[in-house]
Amino acid sequence: MKIISVVGARPQFIKAAMLSMTLAKHPEITHLHLDTGQHYSPEMAELFFEELDYRPDFDLKVGSGTHGCQTGKAMMGIEEILLKETPHLVIVYGDTNATLAGALSAVKLHIPVAHVEAGLRSFNRRMPEEINRIVTDSVSDLLFCPTPTAVTNLKNEGRKEGVIHTGDILLDTLQYFLPKARERSDVLNRLKINNESFWLLTMHRPHNVDEVGKLKRVLTALGSQDHPRIIFPCHPRTTATIKNIPDKALDHIEIILPVSYLDFLILENNAELILTDSGGVQREAYFLARPCLTLREETEWPETLENGWNRLVGTDPEQITEGVRQKKSPMIEPDLTLFGDGYAQEKILQALLSL
Ligand code: UD1
Ligand code: UDP
Repeated sequence: MKIISVVGARPQFIKAAMLSMTLAKHPEITHLHLDTGQHYSPEMAELFFEELDYRPDFDLKVGSGTHGCQTGKAMMGIEEILLKETPHLVIVYGDTNATLAGALSAVKLHIPVAHVEAGLRSFNRRMPEEINRIVTDSVSDLLFCPTPTAVTNLKNEGRKEGVIHTGDILLDTLQYFLPKARERSDVLNRLKINNESFWLLTMHRPHNVDEVGKLKRVLTALGSQDHPRIIFPCHPRTTATIKNIPDKALDHIEIILPVSYLDFLILENNAELILTDSGGVQREAYFLARPCLTLREETEWPETLENGWNRLVGTDPEQITEGVRQKKSPMIEPDLTLFGDGYAQEKILQALLSL
């Protein structure tokens, strides 16, 4: 069986690298990787390929652009490769423009599509990702759901065929790579963090970071807390806006380039508090039992809110202050069974082998 995974963005490299290792143990499966090139800066792409020993077979070099431009260019390139390679199945991951382009290109060529991270909904159609999720799920044959909520969302939309509750492959990935990160990462030394508390911040949602005034308000709100060091590995989208914020408003924040996955796991695991608008980082905070404030009004991952490990604070300074005040670790441990306990890739593999 020939399978092509379509990837393009940082979180997809991480998940596809994990699944790739599992599928590689099965000689009856040929698994190729097609990178649309949506993420291309060295710290968003090459850093991951090297560290995860993951090298896509095709690179479309689509780069940045408007949604139509990025998705359209990716579809043109994906179609050409699918026509040449004639895979039995295309796998897409998550909710980016690369996900949408991969799913649409495949379904139009009558190639079955499997969606890893199917069924997630924010119910906010102004998020580009929400549109990508809805369209991708609607054309996918296999819907690999990471959580019970994702299964319920699809059920509520009337989807029955092909819905498989696999658990979250990001948990498998974390469990596999965390011991390696502990062995190999020197990020705490590099950042001169010696057993002291720090907060870890990431932001990249257009709604939060594209407008200078809004981003400045959030960063200023963090500065007005009683805070330890705040480390901010900054996504390139956010860097572009930060250039227009006066240095004085950023004094209290240590802005660094995005770090590798192993380095990031170590930072998360040692952070006193994680503040983020990322889907992946919210879950990793939960998996690692680190308190998290999500700088959004809603989440596709409500399981992380259980027992207060994750709190939705949006970008309102008062809510951020209240979240910081309540940041202590809850007494009840995170429930990893809600995310499949680390067996997602095994369940995905079994579903693929039974095709
Ligand atoms: C994309 C996904 C988002 C995902 C995120 C993961 C869509 C619609 N959005 O958002 O769902 O959470 O990836 O990180 O697909 N840029 C660079 N170098 C890069 C990549 C981006 O400089 O390697 C800059 C460019 O200025 C670009 C901007 O970041 O215009 C946004 O990049 P883009 O890939 O369009 O969206 P993300 O915000 O990264
Ligand atoms: N990540 C990383 N380096 C960083 C920031 C994040 O390796 O500097 C990893 C993080 O561990 C998680 C993934 O990137 O697995 C999340 O990606 P991102 O926040 O870009 O996208 P999202 O999950 O919101 O789609």
